[in-house]
Amino acid sequence: MFEKTPLFSALISHRSRKPISMHVPGHKNGLLLHEAGISYYKKISELDVTELTNLDDLHDAEGCIKEAQDLTAQFYGAEETHFLIGGSTAGNLAMILSAFDPGDAVMVQRNCHKSVLNGLELAGLVPIFLGPEIHQEGGFPLGLTLETVKMASEQYPEVKGLIVTTPNYYGMSADLSSIIQYMHERSLPVLADEAHGAHYVLEGFPDSVLSMGADAAVQSAHKTLPAMTMGAYLHIGKQSLLNKNRIRHALQMIQSSSPSYPIMASLDLSRSYLAQLKSSDIELIKEQSLELKDFIKQCGFHVLDAPSGYEADSLKITLQAQWEYTGYEMQSIFEQNGLYPELADSLNVLFVLPLGVSHETMRWKEAILRASKELNSKRKLAAIKFPSAFPPVSSLSYSYSEMRRKLTVKVKINDSAGRISAETVIPYPPGVPLIAKGEQITESMIKAFNVLQKTGARFQGGGGEMISVFAEEEGVEQQ
Ligand SMILES: Cc1ncc(COP(=O)(O)O)c(C=O)c1O
Repeated sequence: MFEKTPLFSALISHRSRKPISMHVPGHKNGLLLHEAGISYYKKISELDVTELTNLDDLHDAEGCIKEAQDLTAQFYGAEETHFLIGGSTAGNLAMILSAFDPGDAVMVQRNCHKSVLNGLELAGLVPIFLGPEIHQEGGFPLGLTLETVKMASEQYPEVKGLIVTTPNYYGMSADLSSIIQYMHERSLPVLADEAHGAHYVLEGFPDSVLSMGADAAVQSAHKTLPAMTMGAYLHIGKQSLLNKNRIRHALQMIQSSSPSYPIMASLDLSRSYLAQLKSSDIELIKEQSLELKDFIKQCGFHVLDAPSGYEADSLKITLQAQWEYTGYEMQSIFEQNGLYPELADSLNVLFVLPLGVSHETMRWKEAILRASKELNSKRKLAAIKFPSAFPPVSSLSYSYSEMRRKLTVKVKINDSAGRISAETVIPYPPGVPLIAKGEQITESMIKAFNVLQKTGARFQGGGGEMISVFAEEEGVEQQ
């Protein structure tokens, strides 16, 4: 049953009628394309249609899209699943907008993606940030502990729910059942950004948050499944405390009224792909990962493990050079050797492996070996320790509506400790804001910023020497 592909099959059946397009989109089933792009776009354009008879409507699904979404929900053990064509970004926004009311205080894992922070601002919420544990060797954030959740709920008894991010970008996750149970005992929902865990439904990978009882989970299918970029799922959990009608309403506000059929069909195909993977296939995928990890170690790199209490995703490999290079320098050498990692940070480089057995492993190994030889031959740099920037429990200094009315000034970031940031500073990837708009800037944030900048991080917003902060006096000129 789960092998079926109702949406993809409806598109193929439409195509087989050799339809004349007197409708949008303007490429007319791929007949009108720029010459330079024809060979790339021709085939995919044949599927890039619109809400025609028998092809359903994402915003009021009752035909093949509904069937595809229902199969996905059943496969993932969800009450209801919605296809997202704007990535997990759209799902996070819709989930947050629909779960809370303006002015609600909400606990939020601080190492969240910027889309979560944007959702909080759009919904006019009052975030109570919870600091995650930190991976000692890797220097990156992991997940929350029950103690932190309890501490914050006691300090802020008015909170209306919790937003978690799991697994982290590096594929490390912990069992959240006790945190979810603690929240549910208080009738408070848990929303999960599980962008990196769309394959966790499979046996042999860490457990999914839905199986732990989360009320809703958002997954970027495009990150680890064979789905097109921007394809994602929003699952509503069984016995969810959330209002399904509000979620549907939020989704139709956030998502395009012309959703991409190639993206939606790739979500349908991805679920079918997962369903067809046998346990023997998963074993081979895991062996492929183990074998590559061994090879990487033989080349002189250090491969990070998940710390105690956390589980690692076999599709992710986080490595460090033994020769004290920054992650960014290593990334650049891998790229010069034809291998493009998912991301680098000050200390690490992250590889994301395919959810399938590859015929290219020899090419991977050759590139890794070439890069290791080059890295080995270069001079050493001073070791870098990445300071942890997130306190266990913190909140914004102003509400989002207060921030909109306040004047801002620019100050040198190195002189900004104690000021309230008027901008969000985001090293990208991973897109986890280092300084959030409305947060008081601390010495450790400045230290972390300097380490990131010195080692070559890219920033969205900020990144120069100056930062926008809220003016302390009235009447200061806005810059
Ligand atoms: C944890 C997390 N959540 C959400 C997103 C946004 O996902 P998308 O790119 O599918 O919109 C990302 C993107 O990297 C992410 O890492």
